[in-house]
Amino acid sequence: MDDVEVHFEKEQGLLDRFRSDASVVRAVDGISLDIEEQDLVCLLGESGCGKTTLGKTMIGLQRPTGGSIRYRGQDIWEAKDGEGDVEITHEEIRRALQIIHQDPGSALNPNRRIVNILSEPLRHTHPNISQAERRERMHSLLERVGMTPAGDFLERYPHQLSGGEKQRVVLARALLMNPNAILADEAISAVDVSLRIEIMDLMLELQEEFDTSFLFISHDLSNARYFAEHGDGRIAVMYLGEIVEIGTAERLIHDPRHPYTEVLRWATPNLDLDAMEAEEPPIRQIDVPDPVNPPSGCRFHTRCPVAREACREEHPTLEDVDGGDGKAACFREDPNHRYWDSEPLEGAAESREEFFANAAAETSDSNSETANSD
Ligand SMILES: Nc1ncnc2c1ncn2[C@@H]1O[C@H](COP(=O)(O)OP(=O)(O)OP(=O)(O)O)[C@@H](O)[C@H]1O
Ligand code: SF4
Ligand SMILES: [Mg+2]
Repeated sequence: MDDVEVHFEKEQGLLDRFRSDASVVRAVDGISLDIEEQDLVCLLGESGCGKTTLGKTMIGLQRPTGGSIRYRGQDIWEAKDGEGDVEITHEEIRRALQIIHQDPGSALNPNRRIVNILSEPLRHTHPNISQAERRERMHSLLERVGMTPAGDFLERYPHQLSGGEKQRVVLARALLMNPNAILADEAISAVDVSLRIEIMDLMLELQEEFDTSFLFISHDLSNARYFAEHGDGRIAVMYLGEIVEIGTAERLIHDPRHPYTEVLRWATPNLDLDAMEAEEPPIRQIDVPDPVNPPSGCRFHTRCPVAREACREEHPTLEDVDGGDGKAACFREDPNHRYWDSEPLEGAAESREEFFANAAAETSDSNSETANSD
């Protein structure tokens, strides 16, 4: 993906229509990302930051308003529109890039048996195989995703399956297309917590067996960590339509370079890290700014605990981090940046350690005020 933008025109009220400045939601705003063969990238970020939009854009379900997406060098929208020299056809790209939806329930037609749901993609990919062979392939794949006896499951309707079983069917359906990349959009959030590791392990095994890449979307750092660590992949952190940090799980968790990654780390208590320093979140404002009108300069400056004047004025770009493991978009990575000579913004601290110390002091002040008033 090269400098990809997806801007949506926002639904407007009657009054807005008389104004000339149509409001635009900057769901994805200038993202470049390479996904290699058998790669694994976990997209992490708060609700509404643009994860699904970016994922759908990657697999060609959402047309970007700027930038380009290429599959093995072929621009996927030029292939769809039949423009230029098309080396890889639109049909081939559609087969190669598959999706596992956020909610497996709504992804399966409730009126069709599993056998019909699964045979449809096979008719596309293998139009010449016999019905018996088709059934044999569905059978073995269902068994491979842990649904045994497969013959029994093939005859059922989606409502006769548990959440975990539905998710396995959706995974099997994506794999029947023999894809080169799968977008798994919050694929395990609907699954019971006790089953999540099992499904993630299954996906990782199948990734190797089927030689496919994964873009795994999650708002939960511990799931992203599990996936990235066990699948030898990367985590990409998104904030208001941009990737603000990317790197291995190990580096992001033990040595985060972007203050927002630190916030996500703080919000995930079960990471087996040393005890966090403060009870307060390392953030100046809880509310996420509006993607229609994102903050100037660094988009995180309104919440960042260590923001300075320079952050309000200048937009940081994603640069290689010291040590070479990934990239981060924060001026603090550059020891010569004018950030270091500018004044902290209101409520921000000189350093991260000072922010935590202030937060801890405020907590104890407010506790003693409450005790006095009692
Ligand atoms: N079709 C659309 N039309 C207008 N705005 C949209 C559309 N799809 C998404 N958006 C907006 O774009 C932004 C990003 O949405 P997106 O669904 O990509 O977020 P997300 O990170 O996947 O969130 P979640 O974690 O809640 O699934 C949101 O502000 C959303 O309201
Ligand atoms: S550039 Fe400034 S506001 Fe943005 S994350 Fe870095 S320190 Fe915070
Ligand atoms: Mg989403």
